[in-house]
Order: sequence, then structure tokens, then C-alpha cells
Amino acid sequence: MIKVENLTKYYGKRLAVDNISFNIDKGEIVGFLGPNAAGKTTTMRILAGFLLPTSGNAWVADYNILSQSLQVRRHIGYLPEAVPLYSDMTIRSYLNFAAQLRGLDKKRIRARIEEVVEICHLEEYVDVLIGKLSRGFRQRVGVAQAIIHEPEVLILDEPTIGIDPIQVAMTRQLIRELGKEHTILLSTHVLSEVSIICQRVIIINEGKIVAEDSIENLSSMIGGSRRIRLEVSNPSAKVVERLCQIEGISRVSQEGSQYILECSTGEDPREKIMESVVQNGWTLLSLESVEMSLEDIFLKLTTKKESDQ
Ligand SMILES: Nc1ncnc2c1ncn2[C@@H]1O[C@H](COP(=O)(O)OP(=O)(O)O)[C@@H](O)[C@H]1O
Ligand SMILES: [Mg+2]
Repeated sequence: MIKVENLTKYYGKRLAVDNISFNIDKGEIVGFLGPNAAGKTTTMRILAGFLLPTSGNAWVADYNILSQSLQVRRHIGYLPEAVPLYSDMTIRSYLNFAAQLRGLDKKRIRARIEEVVEICHLEEYVDVLIGKLSRGFRQRVGVAQAIIHEPEVLILDEPTIGIDPIQVAMTRQLIRELGKEHTILLSTHVLSEVSIICQRVIIINEGKIVAEDSIENLSSMIGGSRRIRLEVSNPSAKVVERLCQIEGISRVSQEGSQYILECSTGEDPREKIMESVVQNGWTLLSLESVEMSLEDIFLKLTTKKESDQ
């Protein structure tokens, strides 16, 4: 449904998207996850036919973004990062306008407005001026305009950014519902969002894809790596150095009086750590194994470059 091939985008000299490729099948809900400035919005604007890539190519709903940009725009629903809403229009008049832009005929417009208003739970506010709505509701109006023409593919750029927790929950529920009938690519910098809504995740950092997998696989990948938290009473610079020498420890970082040891192998190195503590004459305050969370793997993947240098 979406096919991206070696997509690259430069803004002047700044490389925003660096040779990325991925595929999304019909019916999938895929999370496009990455920190700020990773290149999510740029990629999505290219896919939505609003921006040309510097090189590379992409297909959305089987239409080519370079040669069939009009068809692309007809077959996708796009929720941009900042929804262009008109505050002096009511929801109904705005949706009417959006539907006309999309070329729906008059009869269809009327019925379709009723449908999307119901889908997006906007019934009570349909005749309220958009300017009077809270951000969460405005975001839902944004979703409503994105689906008005019944597109096969939805591209949602940070749909829950800046809205309150209740609205976030409602919007996520709405996206999951939409996912039953649409193929969805949704960007976010919030990791938990991906695990709540998506089946698969593509992680982007500094314009490059750093991981692409199902939520289950990512979780089990994390399960395979272990970390140990160690606290000794007389921390010194030597501690990190000595801990690094222990077999099976790939990295040691210090957080206050605690040391976080990352293990390279599947086995439990706690015995070896204990030996080292004793040999060095440190006083042990605590030693525990900590599970790595999805959050950790995200941090690990997106900060890899700095720490490896
Ligand atoms: N219109 C633009 N002109 C110049 N640089 C831009 C423009 N839009 C985005 N960038 C830069 O491209 C990079 C990727 O931005 P963006 O795609 O918005 O990332 P994200 O959506 O992941 O936060 C950033 O470094 C950003 O500063
Ligand atoms: Mg963005």
C-alpha cells in the first residue's frame, strides 16, 4: 500500500531524510517513531504529495508520488502536524469545504459529513465555531477532514501531540477504529503510543531508519538483553574502569551513586560482578537485574551514534 525506495531529502545543505526504504501492507497500522528532527514530518509530507524528494521514489495506494501526485492526494487522508483549520468556520461548514476540495458531489457530502462526525465523535459540536474548540477536538476535526473522501491510506503526523490525556486516549481509540478499514502510517515521538496503537514500528533517527519490526519482536529483542544496577558506597573513577573489565559487560554508565551495567551475553554476570566488588574492596549497597523496556531500546537505538563514538 505504501512503498518507499531510497528516499532522500535535503533542505539546502541540511540532510533531513537519508536514503530510507520501507513497505507498508494493506491494512497495517505502522508507527513511525523518532525523536524531534528525525525526519518524520518530511517523509510524511513527501508521501502526501506536498513535498518533492531530492532523490528516491515512493508509491502510495499504488500511485507514484512523482508522476501521479494528484491521484496520490486523492487516495490518501493526511493529517498534517499543524492542522490548517479556519477558526471562524463551524465544523460542519469546514467539513463541507474539505469535501468540496476533495471533489465529492453535493448529495454525498451531506451524508458523508454525518458519517465522519459520528466516527470522530463530534456530534455535539458540529455547529460550533472551530475557534471555540479545545485542541483535542480540533485534532479530531483534522482527522475528520482527512477521512472525508474515504481514502484507503491515512498519514497522521503526530495526531496526539499537545492534547490532554483524555483526548489522547479518545484519539488513540479513534485511530485504532480507523485502522480496521484503512492502512495507517502514524508518526509519534511517544514510544508508548506505538505499542498501544500499532502492529509494527519503523524507528527513524537523524534521517535514517534504525529499526523496523513488530512490537512483539522489538519487545523480545529487549528481553534478550539484560542490565544490572549496582550501587557501592565508595564510588570512584576506578569503579567504571574495573567494571568494564568484567567478562560479559559491554558498557557501564554512572547515574549518581549507581552504575548501570549492560550485559553483552545472555548469561547472568552477577556472580562475576560480586567477585569484582570483593576483590576491589568496595562496599556493596545493592545489586539488581533490571529488565530493559521498550523505552530503553528506543533510547539505545536513537542515541547509539553518540555513545559508540
Ligand atoms: N522547511 C524546512 N527547511 C529547512 N529545514 C527543515 C525544514 N523542515 C524540516 N527541516 C529540518 O529537517 C530535519 C527533519 O525535520 P522533520 O522532518 O520536521 O523532523 P520530525 O518531524 O521528525 O521532527 C530537521 O533537522 C529540521 O530542522
Ligand atoms: Mg514532525
